[in-house]
Amino acid sequence: MTDFPTIDNQHKKIIDIANNLHSSLGSDNLQELVKTHLSQLKRYSAVHFRFEEKILQDHNYFLINEHECLHDAYIGELLKLEERFSELEKRFPNILISEEIEPFAWKVIRFVSQWWLHHILVEDKKNMDFLQKLADTYDSGS
Ligand SMILES: [Fe+2]
Repeated sequence: MTDFPTIDNQHKKIIDIANNLHSSLGSDNLQELVKTHLSQLKRYSAVHFRFEEKILQDHNYFLINEHECLHDAYIGELLKLEERFSELEKRFPNILISEEIEPFAWKVIRFVSQWWLHHILVEDKKNMDFLQKLADTYDSGS
């Protein structure tokens, strides 16, 4: 949790997408669901990153470059997962994919949940602490 409700809601939405994918495990059309969830994760994370980075830029956050690199690396990992998924689809163009798709879905769920857990609790905490300190400074100066 941060002191920024919009950011909290965006984080929640991303975690919800990962949870939805988890709930889809065992479903007949898991292949299609993995594809749509990966695409949602990529699209929505990018929206969130743009929003957060704009706030950090506007406040001259001193670790902005490092933070943007973390965001870019995450999008890079999602792109790699999408590539790996396309390879799986090519290799197993029929029902055989069901044996491959479940472990792949787990891989996506694990990566996304572990990445966000660390990112929210450690990395975003640093920039939210910075913004909070800035707000406190303005408050005490008025
Ligand atoms: Fe972030």
